[in-house]
Amino acid sequence: MTATTAAQAAYIVAALLFILSLAGLSRHESSRSGVVFGIAGMAIALAATIALATRSISTAGGALLALAVVIGGGIGLWRARVVKMTGMPELIAILHSFVGLAAVLVGWNGYLEVEAHPATAEMTGSLLRIHHGEVFVGIFIGAVTFTGSIVANLKLSARISSSPLMLPGKNLLNIGALVAFGVLTVFFVIHPSLGLLIAVTALALALGWHLVASIGGGDMPVVVSMLNSYSGWAAAASGFLLDNNLLIVTGALVGSSGAYLSYIMCQAMNRSFISVIAGGFGIEAPTTDDKDYGTHREATAEEVAGLLSEASSVIITPGYGMAVAQAQYPIAELTRRLRDRGVNVRFGIHPVAGRLPGHMNVLLAEANVPYDIVLEMDEINEDFADTSVVLVIGANDTVNPAAADPGSPIAGMPVLHVWDAADVIVFKRSMAAGYAGVQNPLFFRDNTQMLFGDAKARVEDILRALEREGSPNRVAVAVG
Ligand code: TAP
Repeated sequence: MTATTAAQAAYIVAALLFILSLAGLSRHESSRSGVVFGIAGMAIALAATIALATRSISTAGGALLALAVVIGGGIGLWRARVVKMTGMPELIAILHSFVGLAAVLVGWNGYLEVEAHPATAEMTGSLLRIHHGEVFVGIFIGAVTFTGSIVANLKLSARISSSPLMLPGKNLLNIGALVAFGVLTVFFVIHPSLGLLIAVTALALALGWHLVASIGGGDMPVVVSMLNSYSGWAAAASGFLLDNNLLIVTGALVGSSGAYLSYIMCQAMNRSFISVIAGGFGIEAPTTDDKDYGTHREATAEEVAGLLSEASSVIITPGYGMAVAQAQYPIAELTRRLRDRGVNVRFGIHPVAGRLPGHMNVLLAEANVPYDIVLEMDEINEDFADTSVVLVIGANDTVNPAAADPGSPIAGMPVLHVWDAADVIVFKRSMAAGYAGVQNPLFFRDNTQMLFGDAKARVEDILRALEREGSPNRVAVAVG
């Protein structure tokens, strides 16, 4: 068996492992094995690619390749070890930008190599035209992914505002850029030139920036999975240029699964898929909110403990602030104590609470909150009306009744109807808006009280207050 055949066989095994990985990651119980399959597939793919490459490069080239693998692998390991879960989406966004940049470089290299050595490339006629088409499409998708992912990273890490950029005629700008890309592609296939390549790169870089900048904070979950999809297609385009079957298969897997995830997220958030992938196409500029919502009421931890002592049912709706404060552990303890007293405690999880899909579920599982009391938004939304107390812990956009206002940037987004409960306690540090930058009228309702401060510290205060009250729990501890 030649080295090339062995590498192709290794690629098939790696592709199968990637498919098994995706299947594993789609279910809670099998997600660990999904990760293991993914790591195994990537290790085989890397080893086969390096083995193939070292056959045709000089010793110095081999040393450079090894250096790149060691430096890249080292940075990757370090980042993955130190990243907090709340920082995952921005890390994913920056990784997508690398895929985009790689696709641009592969495209440029594909063009320059054929131009420099037309004889070695052995490409003429329609084969050459197909090659030029691949170069152009690869660079376009790669550059859109590159700048789009950088903007997503900046928005998710709060280094730029998460509110949508509303340039005049933004939809026309996007459509114009797509039409220009089509026209440039035709010209490039017929008369390839460096000038056209520079033009399409600049056009795609600007389009990627504008597409993501035009999407508001509330829709960022869809943007992240959409860029995931784009990065897959960019990798597949590079696969065609490099004649690498594994890159084509893997790119197509990532591209199609990312597109499907974006579609599911759009459905969950009542958004139009086409509108989001077209940079908020058809979404009007939100009306400015200068409404006077009145005054809010504040509560102390002792008062909240008093309310909880009287409650027969409690729903906890966690959000991003719970993750920031790492409040899941005292929340799990509070849940246990209340359940010991016979209170019906449940959790209501919004599909985009936090900063990544399943964020809240992972944190609550980490703190050993039983799965069966953690319910999805659709499963619990009807039950708020029969609930004594709702604890909104570090959530904001996901419990914002402004979603019912057609002029709001989060208009139409399904939210948890926490205001239907008898009493609502909102845990947060200030009156600041949530991720989408929209004021929350919930805070000013008659049945809402604010409990200001770090969520973890406040839940611990409540636990202490419950203990002081002489809960049955305390007696049990004292006797034990
Ligand atoms: P957000 O709307 O982000 O609000 C979180 C709230 O937590 C803030 O208002 C903040 O108020 C409070 N907070 C922060 N640190 C806190 C702390 N240490 N203690 C107490 N409170 C704290 O949260 P959400 O309701 O979970 O909504 C998620 C948002 O992120 C949505 O807009 C969603 O579209 C977006 N998003 C989601 C994802 C995914 S996939 N889930 C990905 C990207 C973006 P203070 O500053 O006043 O404390």
